[in-house]
Amino acid sequence: MLGMIWAQSRNGVIGRDGDLPWRLREDMQHFRRTTGTDAVIHGRASWEALPPNLRPLPGRRNIVLTRREGYQAPGAEIARSLPEALALLDGADAWICGGGAVYAEAMPVADVLVVSDIDIEVDGDTFAPEIGPGWAEPTVGDWVEASNGMRFRVLTYRREPLA
Ligand SMILES: NC(=O)c1ccc[n+]([C@@H]2O[C@H](COP(=O)([O-])OP(=O)(O)OC[C@H]3O[C@@H](n4cnc5c(N)ncnc54)[C@H](OP(=O)(O)O)[C@@H]3O)[C@@H](O)[C@H]2O)c1
Repeated sequence: MLGMIWAQSRNGVIGRDGDLPWRLREDMQHFRRTTGTDAVIHGRASWEALPPNLRPLPGRRNIVLTRREGYQAPGAEIARSLPEALALLDGADAWICGGGAVYAEAMPVADVLVVSDIDIEVDGDTFAPEIGPGWAEPTVGDWVEASNGMRFRVLTYRREPLA
């Protein structure tokens, strides 16, 4: 199983200035529950956007994608391409955790998409990938009101069964 997990605003923003444009503790808890103990794959910028105390994400194998020679990511493994990251996994379950270009590149090989739909409009510079054909209608969770008053719900997409 290769999943992708992200949170997006109504207008499709996932990031701004190298960070998340919102703070939503309940969505972080959902991320933690969903990824469990599976491996997590981060683009180098998303890795650097993690709070230092969560880098690497605890209890999970962390893999960082970078083309930089000699890049150090203490507590994580380095892969120079998506196929190299997937080869490191050797079939183990994993989640792609961003950012924008990594989601787009991995879309054809992902099995499941877990998308937090955050009920706000924000400016940003990084956008959610397009969810093209080949995905069944998502299951749509109930709206959850977070402690800061923001609302979000979780959409889960799976591949359409082959005809
Ligand atoms: N809302 C969400 O759910 C969510 C999730 C994650 C991230 N974000 C946000 O998204 C933004 C970061 O995303 P981003 O798109 O700017 O950057 P990113 O995808 O996290 O990182 C881009 C970097 O990853 C490396 N990379 C990407 N694809 C690669 C490949 N196929 N092979 C080898 N290396 C590869 C390259 O690193 P080098 O330059 O080192 O070669 C590239 O410059 C931040 O604002 C972050 O907060 C949001």
